Amino acid sequence: MTDVAALTREEAAAELDRLAREIAHHDRLYHQQDAPEISDAEYDALKRRNDAIEARFPDLVRPDSPTHKVGAPAAAGFGKVRHAIPMLSLDNAFADEDVHDFVARVRRFLKLGEDGAVEIVAEPKIDGLSFSARYENGRFVQAATRGDGAEGEDITANLRTLKDLPDRLHALFPPEVLEVRGEVYMSRADFLALNERQAERGGKTFANPRNAAAGSLRQLDPKITAQRPLSLFCYAWGEVKGYEAATHWDFLEQLRDWGFPVNPERKLCKGADAVLAFYRDIGERRAQLPYDIDGIVYKLNRVDWQKRLGFVSRAPRWAIAHKFPAEQAMTVLTRITIQVGRTGVLTPVANLEPVTVGGVMVGRATLHNEDEIARLDVRDGDTVIVQRAGDVIPQVVGVVLEKRPADSAPFAFPHTCPTCGSTAVREDGAVAWRCTGGLICPDQAVERLIHFASRNAFDIEGLGDKNIRAFYEEGRIRAPQDIFRLRDKDTGSLTPLRSKEGWGPVSATKLYDAIDARRTVPFERFLFALGIPQVGQATARLVAQHYGDLPTLRAALSAEDVGPDSDAYKDLINVETIGPAVADELIAFFREDHNKQVLDALAADLTIVPFERKDVAGSPIAGKTIVFTGTLERMSRGEAKNRAQDMGAKVAGTVSAKTDLVVAGPGAGSKLKKAEELGVAVMTEDAFFDMIGG
Ligand code: IVH
Repeated sequence: MTDVAALTREEAAAELDRLAREIAHHDRLYHQQDAPEISDAEYDALKRRNDAIEARFPDLVRPDSPTHKVGAPAAAGFGKVRHAIPMLSLDNAFADEDVHDFVARVRRFLKLGEDGAVEIVAEPKIDGLSFSARYENGRFVQAATRGDGAEGEDITANLRTLKDLPDRLHALFPPEVLEVRGEVYMSRADFLALNERQAERGGKTFANPRNAAAGSLRQLDPKITAQRPLSLFCYAWGEVKGYEAATHWDFLEQLRDWGFPVNPERKLCKGADAVLAFYRDIGERRAQLPYDIDGIVYKLNRVDWQKRLGFVSRAPRWAIAHKFPAEQAMTVLTRITIQVGRTGVLTPVANLEPVTVGGVMVGRATLHNEDEIARLDVRDGDTVIVQRAGDVIPQVVGVVLEKRPADSAPFAFPHTCPTCGSTAVREDGAVAWRCTGGLICPDQAVERLIHFASRNAFDIEGLGDKNIRAFYEEGRIRAPQDIFRLRDKDTGSLTPLRSKEGWGPVSATKLYDAIDARRTVPFERFLFALGIPQVGQATARLVAQHYGDLPTLRAALSAEDVGPDSDAYKDLINVETIGPAVADELIAFFREDHNKQVLDALAADLTIVPFERKDVAGSPIAGKTIVFTGTLERMSRGEAKNRAQDMGAKVAGTVSAKTDLVVAGPGAGSKLKKAEELGVAVMTEDAFFDMIGG
């Protein structure tokens, strides 16, 4: 390469032009596709050369000069879109019985009695990628992926390239706002043809139509999306203003009239038997459908009933996905190994000779626990049947005994931790062996860190399991608080991250920035991130709602005398759905000295935002603690509880001095008496509904 000092003006201009394009290309690969082609060192060399030339010929600095864009993370991927109404997922049904239970649950919740028609729309569950498309006054304005349900990626430009999506609604008087939701997919024929084309050109091929659809839609360059054969079906709505459907069926017909593709394989059914008949019919024709489906979705037809049912956690109560049986394959199990999880549970894993199951390569499968191994009598060297059901980890479902090697021996489940050597225990009634090593067990420590940084917890981009494992081994991160001290510690380190193989100043800074972006965290997320056994997202949310903030929770649970008879304990198990088992885990966690240190350190480095009650302006019951007792006549207990929580109230199971209101129906007994003794306000169901507005 010519020395910068020896470059002519013309050569310099030409080289700056080349460098601008080359650096932009690598920026794109790095920030947007997470697929760099050159090392950070090589990238830095390009930048340095560019800088040197610009320094010598300042008047040649280009408007698109890479120096103007140093470390511009704004270019990193897609913009974010917050969903005005969250995009939900669905609960699953696997057996007919689950479907009967679903319908029975709906009946109970709505107090419909045994007979009385329940109309349900059944439609195929498309195996694709869900999206939400927003129309304002009939014009397409924005689209987003589902993301985590609350926030997705802006794919407006990409979705616009799909010929199936109308740019304008076919309507004289379109609604003011319409968010249409559905699934983008690739037909099987299109998928095969695309893979062939890609292979010919030496491009990337895809494992299955779903991956192909996802990979094609999530392209930063919409021109690429435009060349991919993507289709879509619409089946749900988000925010809507100026239109209201009485039933889901009417809504689908309206969508079709507005110009959206709606799956023709849909049926309005009456009751569980009718939807099951549809399920079997489609099941038989599944292989002939032009696209992949993984089940049938059942949705309650009446929208007013949907509203009353509402949703739990992340799935509506008024819909369910009935999955098709999983696809299976046969292969050889080379060896059973033991994996140690976040809470110390020892999980046996089947290491397999790789095999494709339903289009996906499988090399490992879970064996769950000691009993499952005994039940299957599965051994090293066995030929086994593995199956994959949706996103679930593949499982071993059976052994082909005729193929068992003559010298095989039953598997002996270890009684010590294979990682740290600590004693393992299997508690009474438990199915799992647990390592007692706690955080001295590297596997447990690492799994807790992985959970801490994961998507539904701190959601730190670039801090996935691979990096956490490496950072743990190198001693960079041993405890959660180390994550937030990484940048500072690294600056003065003799072995800084930036000089580690595969890293450089750009990628290290990118990681530190991603960590910094998470220094402010909602209390419920923080609580979930701690990885307390039995405290999942829903429980974390309830606990956060109940206590409000971390200091209050810690003060309540870490006192020495939180025994089963203490007020603090009763207050905790009085939170609906928190039982003694969860309460014990919470108390044990907040009492443990090591955890106290972690919490102190995190509290010092982070801003933990207290639980934000919903916007319940004007709600007469916001912040109040309510107990329902006796028989309710206008709604089921579940529905009443939902309504109250939506309006900002806490719902408790027992009456205490902290109760603000008891809603009592016929047959109310001891709770009503207690309320009277304590002087707590009591209301009838009717009075309650009048108060909250019917
Ligand atoms: S309804 C509240 N209908 O399945 C409405 N979802 O497992 C929720 N899906 O996230 C979705 N086909 O991506 C619905 N006909 C269909 C569907 C469908 C596929 C996907 C969707 C959803 C996931 C839930």
